[in-house]
Amino acid sequence: MKDIFGKALLDYLHGISTGSLTEENIITWTNISDKDILPLPYLFRDFSEMPKLEQRALELSKGKVLDVGCGAGSHSLYLQEKGVDVKAIDISKRAIEVTKQRGVLNAEVLNILNETERFDTILLLMNGTGIFQELRQVSKYLKHLKSLLNPNGQILIDSSDIKYMYEDDDGGLWIDTNASYYGELDYFISHKGESEVPLKWLYLDFDTLKLACETVGLKCELVSEGVHFDYLAQLSL
Ligand SMILES: C[S@@+](CC[C@H](N)C(=O)[O-])C[C@H]1O[C@@H](n2cnc3c(N)ncnc32)[C@H](O)[C@@H]1O
Repeated sequence: MKDIFGKALLDYLHGISTGSLTEENIITWTNISDKDILPLPYLFRDFSEMPKLEQRALELSKGKVLDVGCGAGSHSLYLQEKGVDVKAIDISKRAIEVTKQRGVLNAEVLNILNETERFDTILLLMNGTGIFQELRQVSKYLKHLKSLLNPNGQILIDSSDIKYMYEDDDGGLWIDTNASYYGELDYFISHKGESEVPLKWLYLDFDTLKLACETVGLKCELVSEGVHFDYLAQLSL
């Protein structure tokens, strides 16, 4: 990993990239979609700028909280300011640098699979299932997340059913049913002309997530749905 994402976050924090010019932002594309802009300021959003699903997840957060894949630490910062005991983790060294520089006290470079502490709330936000990468890895991640929960603990995770991305102009679907699960994408990002090594990123529809949860002994409930096939789920023991 070249950590282009973290580099872009650091540039923004230090005012080197302001996000006002298109080419200063993060450019993303996938194997099934064209280039799109991920505005850097969005990664530094405050509560009022967050989607309703994220706001709901923060309102439901209780006890000791783990923010998995914290990015620039926006969710952790909000919770910390509310007096919540929160730990932020990310595999990106530079993202953790940014999170710490923004004031998050407990932030660590750590892959979720190497986390060992226990928590009352585990947050995975901004397509939290992306971290699982592929459908075949979902139960491995869910089992591990389950092992980190205190009794009465919860996992709050968001994702989207991206079936709509396979719709043609006539409203028909062109999903190849012989291919892998339609939410498994090859994800590409670049910033100022520098490209990251291709990533795998998983979008999971709610029913598939629920089924996967059941196979590892987790309850999965729909908390709320967003405006564009997105949803927030609560997993518990
Ligand atoms: C889409 S970003 C979301 C950032 C942040 N949660 C937000 O909402 O702004 C996903 C983040 O997950 C991190 N990540 C990916 N795989 C991870 C893993 N296995 N463990 C911890 N963090 C991971 C990435 O480095 C990236 O910062």
